[in-house]
Amino acid sequence: EKDGYPHFMIKEIHEQPAAITRTITPRIQDDLPDFSGDQIPDTLFDGAENVTIIACGTAMYAGMVGAEFIQNRLKMPVTVSIASEFRYSQPVIDEKSLVIVVSQSGETIDTFEALKLAKQYTDRTLSIVNVKESSIARESHYVVYTHAGPEIAVASTKAYTVQVAMMYLLGFKLGLMNGRLSEAEAKEKVQALKTVPAHMEEVLQYEKRVKELTSRMVNAQDAFYIGRGLDYRVAMEGALKLKEISYIHAEAYAAGELKHGTISLIEEGVPVIAIANQQKVYEKMISNIREVKARNAFVILISKDKAIDDPTICNVHLSIPDVPDDLTVFETAVICQLIGYYTSVGKGLDPDQPRNLAKSVTVE
Ligand code: F6R
Repeated sequence: EKDGYPHFMIKEIHEQPAAITRTITPRIQDDLPDFSGDQIPDTLFDGAENVTIIACGTAMYAGMVGAEFIQNRLKMPVTVSIASEFRYSQPVIDEKSLVIVVSQSGETIDTFEALKLAKQYTDRTLSIVNVKESSIARESHYVVYTHAGPEIAVASTKAYTVQVAMMYLLGFKLGLMNGRLSEAEAKEKVQALKTVPAHMEEVLQYEKRVKELTSRMVNAQDAFYIGRGLDYRVAMEGALKLKEISYIHAEAYAAGELKHGTISLIEEGVPVIAIANQQKVYEKMISNIREVKARNAFVILISKDKAIDDPTICNVHLSIPDVPDDLTVFETAVICQLIGYYTSVGKGLDPDQPRNLAKSVTVE
């Protein structure tokens, strides 16, 4: 039941720190990733030369976060495929390919069929699934279960963040097995990952502030989520959260792409959620934000900076706890979920039951 919360979605948003702890704890041994309890042999990772991640919707966006890590930190080739595209494409994978399939329900038909196709090419298929004994869990060679618990709200929240946490742990393991991460590096990353639930709790304290600022969102026709690198991946999930439950047209843009077309859509008062958590591109990102601000967008900035009072950058600044850049995705996701939720509620909609959407998509 809802435990006193008005909707399942907000209850599930609050359940995330505990869900992450439940998911990662059994896979950590002496601060190193350990999947022996999931019966995953080291040979699955050992010798894998490239990675293909297949999923739909939010699960695919979780996969994209994993892909950023695998490519940028492990320097391994990685592809993320939309399941409904992969299954009708010519897969370029072989027995050296590790295929990771991500699905909360384990029943999404396109993801299931894509998995079956991938199995024709490789024996290294691993699914990240939340529902025990679901079709995808049974069909893949190996499965790691996320422990989000039942997710009732149609819009995925806790299932996403536990998928992301699992992607990171698997990434650490893959890096270790392929000599791309040292034991000391892996330990440091695992230790940082263990602090995520506490940082998410901190961000959940922003709920009232986020609720207030969504009064600026409820009348919007459009909204833009911008970021670079990992921030762009989480921007996609943020935009999806807003559109599916508030029915506001929202788009995620790689911030550097704005000036190649989309900036023409920025006019006075348009909400822009700008995410600037990646040190490597921070200055570039701030200059992109100034460009939209100069066109009088209503800019909500999410960044690790302590305080930004510069009116040429943003209208509202949500400062998140300082964690390694890779891990900011969890904190940013919480804020984006709250923006989506309170915008929906502010419009008098039922965030748990958005129109036209079903929790599990078993039609093609
Ligand atoms: C969005 C959402 C969907 C699902 C997608 C895949 O909030 O929930 O985009 O992520 O339908 O579902 P699963 O993960 O069950 O395969």
